[in-house]
Amino acid sequence: FNVTWDVASAEKGGYEHFMIKEIHEQPKAVKDTMLSRIDADSDTIKLDDIKITKEDLEKFRKIYIVACGTAYHAGLVGKYMIENLAKIPVEVDIASEFRYRNALVDENTLVIIISQSGETLDTLAALKEAKAKGARILSVVNVVGSSIARESHDVLYTWAGPEISVASTKAYTTQLIALYEIALYMADLRGTLSKEEIKTIKDEMMILPEKIEKTLENKEAIQRFAAKYSGVKDVFFLGRGLDSPVAMEGSLKLKELSYIHSDAYAAGELKHGPIALIEKGTIVIAIMAQQGLYEKMLNNVKEVKSRGAYVFAIAKEGHKEVEEISDQVLFIPEVSDLLAPVVAIIPLQLLAYYMAVEKGCDVDKPRNLAKSVTVE
Ligand code: G6P
Repeated sequence: FNVTWDVASAEKGGYEHFMIKEIHEQPKAVKDTMLSRIDADSDTIKLDDIKITKEDLEKFRKIYIVACGTAYHAGLVGKYMIENLAKIPVEVDIASEFRYRNALVDENTLVIIISQSGETLDTLAALKEAKAKGARILSVVNVVGSSIARESHDVLYTWAGPEISVASTKAYTTQLIALYEIALYMADLRGTLSKEEIKTIKDEMMILPEKIEKTLENKEAIQRFAAKYSGVKDVFFLGRGLDSPVAMEGSLKLKELSYIHSDAYAAGELKHGPIALIEKGTIVIAIMAQQGLYEKMLNNVKEVKSRGAYVFAIAKEGHKEVEEISDQVLFIPEVSDLLAPVVAIIPLQLLAYYMAVEKGCDVDKPRNLAKSVTVE
């Protein structure tokens, strides 16, 4: 009697790939990243060893968020959070651009660096450049003791655990949580939100793991979509407000895993070019998780539908009108606009995964890509 198994499949804990395992680990990873920081019984936000004071915050005239790839997409959400909650202007830069563009950085600048591995060469170089100009460096990193963590003045770790799959999933959602924590911490210090407002957001953050869990239950609908449409050539992702970076991240996941060409647009930009590409059967993924922009998105869906697009909408429960005008809708649990990106990205991760599986792609190690890019 022979039992055959190998270490890799044992580590996958019964899942076919690391990526799908890591997608399912998100409720726990998100919970761990909040542990001891966001506490229902306390009205402050405790951010480990971060030593940024109220006086420091008053000094910072501007914040830069610098990162690559998926971490950059998390940064785009972070900008929105910090500007809206803590009222400090934020600019988000791709590390390979930031390091060569002589950005206006000095002692009155805070630079937030985001990196899963803590080893991405461009990101590390951008950090060093900003540090040499006197900026204060706060990094959001997953790998403890990594180069970026060591070079930073303050580090806020994401507790995603090891991420093996090249395409980032749980590192991304935990980066979002870390950025919410930073925004709330700053809002608290600066008094831009009341204690009650902070508590409302904190309370909702604590139930995010359940909402992710619930969204993961919808995977059959996505599997069916993938089985039918994995042969398509182009996919367009549309979103507005905080759904716009979610669209970008969804598009990146799809192209890196399934090699299907995809693009993401802020839906208001449709009429400035992309709509020329919409023809009969073009797949459009419409992300509609922002209540405040829902009506605007309905109009965008109508625009692409009238040109023959096949629309797969991601919308919040209870938004029935979208069912009438789209071809398919996947409902996610009710969640505030502010926190919606953490939930809305889940179906897009599953979509990229199942499209790649359908096409027989190497899901955990897509061609030409590396988990950590330590060369220029
Ligand atoms: C590579 C990975 C991506 C990641 C990016 C930045 O491209 O494949 O998943 O988002 O690098 O990596 P970092 O470790 O700095 O977050």
